[in-house]
Amino acid sequence: MNEREENTQIGGSGKREGGQAKSRQDKIPRWFLLFSFLAFLLSLYILVFETGRWQNNVFDSGNWFWGYVAKEKPKEEPKTTISQVKTDPMEIGREQYQAMCSACHQQNGMGMPGQYPPLANSEYVVGSKARLGAILLNGLSGQLNINGSSYNGVMPGWKTALNDAKLAAVMTYIRNSWGNHADKVEEMEVKQLREKYGKKEGSWTVEELSQIGN
Ligand code: HEC
Repeated sequence: MNEREENTQIGGSGKREGGQAKSRQDKIPRWFLLFSFLAFLLSLYILVFETGRWQNNVFDSGNWFWGYVAKEKPKEEPKTTISQVKTDPMEIGREQYQAMCSACHQQNGMGMPGQYPPLANSEYVVGSKARLGAILLNGLSGQLNINGSSYNGVMPGWKTALNDAKLAAVMTYIRNSWGNHADKVEEMEVKQLREKYGKKEGSWTVEELSQIGN
């Protein structure tokens, strides 16, 4: 009796169990052990070197390949976010014009004959900023003559709908579209015009406007 058998005998039924375990182990083929070991090494390799080191920003659950995205660097914050917010007054002005004005004055600024006066080639648009600002703040009604055609409609004021920046942008836009060329209007200028004319009730008439200088 060698030492091992002695030990298992002390454990009583240990001998029978030990024998069984031994024979079970014998049934595992060597190639399988080798294969498992290689598979283990391979998975370890993948885990350590190919997974982006557990960074969650390289995991893409939409990816068919275990969501694994090949060593892609975490995307940098796009630097364009600030410039994507529109700051160009012509752009802001165009948006505002299309939303608030184009239904009457039309996209091409030509208005509708006899109904809505044109903004293209209009002295009211490219002329005095103060007069244009006053018209936009409070509106305009009554007899009006533009480029040989007469109008007698009513335009509401925009002082509650548009803030200084938007009004300035829309003025800049209509002063520089459809062949119009005039200097741009600053937010500060509209602020001053609003202080000056904003309290007026009702819309302007052409006679009243003639008193507004530059
Ligand atoms: C509901 C239709 C309507 C809308 C919307 C409208 N207008 Fe007018 N607009 C008129 C009418 C009508 C007149 C002429 C009023 C009159 O006959 O006295 C006029 C006159 C004008 C004038 C002076 C006359 C001229 O042709 O130069 C300007 C400038 C003007 N509008 C700019 C604008 C701007 C800018 C907007 C947008 C913020 C706008 N309008 C939105 C109907 C409109």
